[in-house]
Amino acid sequence: MRILILYATKSGASQYCADLLARQIKGCTVCDLLKTDPDITPFDMIIIGSGVRMGKFYKPVLNFIRKNEILLMEKKIAFYLCNAYPEALQKAIEKNIPQQLAKSATCIKSFGGKPPFRTSSDTHWLVEENVNAFIHAIFESLDELNTNRV
Ligand SMILES: Cc1cc2nc3c(=O)[nH]c(=O)nc-3n(C[C@H](O)[C@H](O)[C@H](O)COP(=O)(O)O)c2cc1C
Repeated sequence: MRILILYATKSGASQYCADLLARQIKGCTVCDLLKTDPDITPFDMIIIGSGVRMGKFYKPVLNFIRKNEILLMEKKIAFYLCNAYPEALQKAIEKNIPQQLAKSATCIKSFGGKPPFRTSSDTHWLVEENVNAFIHAIFESLDELNTNRV
């Protein structure tokens, strides 16, 4: 099972979460969309993570989604958002993830986000229960993929 985690970050939360997921999902590949534009063809599942500023995902993530939208529909996909305002989550999902992709996604969760304009290295912002629920959904979806292949 080939799994790719893609993310873009400005203040570090999305990268922190990508690393957190990668420690749980053994053998996956992690890729910073600010540095590379990966070919997703060989992968079975794509996890996409982005920080949110002014209601928008970061540009490399939006460009990636736009460019790969059709191919993504053929994959298992999941999204995590790093954003600080829970009340703005639904709007951010609707604004940034094409409806078809959102519908077909295994899971879309906010992992919380760093409070703006404060420098702090702690991880109090992290919503661990959402991370755990996300990982649970990913493993369930991978089980399904395995079963369907047999
Ligand atoms: C200029 C600025 C704008 C932001 N706008 C939003 C926003 O619209 N909605 C939200 O929920 N969080 C917002 N945040 C909080 C970020 O989503 C949070 O800091 C998150 O950790 C960013 O992800 P990153 O650390 O991976 O870059 C904003 C933060 C900054 C600094």
